[in-house]
Amino acid sequence: MLRLASRTAPAWTALALAHLDEILLDHAHCEKKAAGAALTLLFQYPDRAELQAPLAALAREELAHFEAVLAELAKRGLVFRRQRASAYAGRLRSASAAREPARLVDALLCAALIEARSCERLGLLADALAEPALAAFYRALHAAEARHHALYVELACQVAPQAEVVARLAELAVHEARVLAELPALPRLHAGAGGALLHVAERAEPLEQHRVVHGRVGGLGGEPR
Ligand SMILES: [Fe+2]
Repeated sequence: MLRLASRTAPAWTALALAHLDEILLDHAHCEKKAAGAALTLLFQYPDRAELQAPLAALAREELAHFEAVLAELAKRGLVFRRQRASAYAGRLRSASAAREPARLVDALLCAALIEARSCERLGLLADALAEPALAAFYRALHAAEARHHALYVELACQVAPQAEVVARLAELAVHEARVLAELPALPRLHAGAGGALLHVAERAEPLEQHRVVHGRVGGLGGEPR
């Protein structure tokens, strides 16, 4: 269950489908960055034993997805190259607390929201794509992003009490929705065309209890909304 505070506008899907090559390239970058983000947390928090195995497994899975998207690019004759990044992640993380352990909780929850937005948009692409093979590819990755979202929330709950995590996640989700709405509309998984803020009742509540299985990422989350 995703905990986003806005729903992507249909204009984003139309823009993405019109620039599918750009989206695929951006997606490859996103998978690589997701692996890097998990590794960065491993290096920043070597004293947090509970994070090590889940984040190592997550980094491996993200890299496997990176390789899968690279293969998809190659199949289409597209070359992986540098791409102008969206300001999304930097602006999202700018709301993070400066002091520990709130800083770590925020880092985990920002990662959870990035995964949630990827999940939502990969699902939109899976529903809209005319090519069955590519739609199936995105459907599978959509489910993976939902698990990654759940994992990050679950890890935050190991750092702070669940009630605090739920409250902070709701705050950061509103911030995420505003950041997205302010960004220019670009064919990127994390750029503009976010919709209006959802009413609180429309957001996923309460937080379901998950169990971390050390070293495994799979099987942690529920189905995405
Ligand atoms: Fe992911």
